[in-house]
Amino acid sequence: MKSIVISQPGVLDIQQHEIPHPDENEVRVKVVYAGVCGSDVHIYHGHNPFARYPRVIGHEFFGVIDQVGRLVAPSKIGQRVVIDPVVSCGKCYPCSVGRPNVCLNLQVIGVHRDGGFSEFACVPASNAHFVPEAIPAQHAALVEPFSIAANITAQLKPTAQDIALVYGAGPMGLAVIQVLKNVFGVAHLVATDRVIDRLGRALECGADKVVTNQDADLFDYFKKYGRAPTLIVDAACHPSILQQAVELASPAGRIGIMGFSDESCIVSQKDITSKELSIFSSRLNSARFPLVIDWMSGEKLNPDVLITHKFDFNQVGVALDFFENKPAECCKILLEFPG
Ligand code: NAI
Ligand code: MN
Repeated sequence: MKSIVISQPGVLDIQQHEIPHPDENEVRVKVVYAGVCGSDVHIYHGHNPFARYPRVIGHEFFGVIDQVGRLVAPSKIGQRVVIDPVVSCGKCYPCSVGRPNVCLNLQVIGVHRDGGFSEFACVPASNAHFVPEAIPAQHAALVEPFSIAANITAQLKPTAQDIALVYGAGPMGLAVIQVLKNVFGVAHLVATDRVIDRLGRALECGADKVVTNQDADLFDYFKKYGRAPTLIVDAACHPSILQQAVELASPAGRIGIMGFSDESCIVSQKDITSKELSIFSSRLNSARFPLVIDWMSGEKLNPDVLITHKFDFNQVGVALDFFENKPAECCKILLEFPG
């Protein structure tokens, strides 16, 4: 089989590997579609502190189970599945309180262990989630990015009263917008990005208003609108955003952050406490795949808005280059693994 391997930072190869056999608690997945994510590019460039090389990347993938380990029910063979990349120990404190995504022994498929940019991938059976026929394969490949939105909204508990502001109209921001509007029905949603060409997709995802983030615009907008945002999600993750979000937020507002920058954010206690703001963070997802699959089955989500391109997996070099250099045209790219 062929696998896409980052053999060391900056070096991407398509390698010929033996088809693996699942361990006793694993299933083998014949991959159909795999989504390209910013974190794949970070691993490629050596910018992900958790990655070890050589690594088969890819953590957003859909396929069909074609072999099972000794302790896994053979009836699973032939199941259409999507893979939760979070592998946890089940024993530590975070696992014991339902937060396997921050397990002390966390292993992320495609980061700490080999992932889905491969014709076949072996994964723990409990990470492979059944996908009903009603969900097309290419939508199923987007369950993982939507699980990030499911996780941050589980922290923020949106309601129909909320005036929402979402920073960033990349795949993450767009997934968050869809979940806030289509699942939780927030009253009003403003999306902001620095790249104006990315904001059209935010409207298609359900944003009521898009505003470019040249500071004054956002403050002006909410001033004219007459109400401050009660729920803010930073899916752009620039370190300067938290300060602005704290300033913009309504008293009793909630702010969700998901960035990994190690630069400091400058916010004062007074600005947070005087409005009694709640600030949540969210990493990956804690067992949210079934929820997202339910939302997709109920047609609450529209993954097609995010999918801008498909490439044969042999073209991965071209796909990654395009992904990095054409942010206006490009949102989610799927790699196709021909049957
Ligand atoms: P992306 O790079 O496609 O989207 C980010 C968007 O934010 C871009 O369109 C950019 O123009 C915009 N932006 C940057 N600075 C801005 C500012 N000051 N104001 C307004 N817009 C601004 O990335 P993607 O894939 O959508 O991911 C977004 C972020 O989420 C990344 O930083 C990524 O590391 C993070 N992330 C976090 C996860 C988690 O579990 N916590 C999971 C996946 C991604
Ligand atoms: Mn991803």
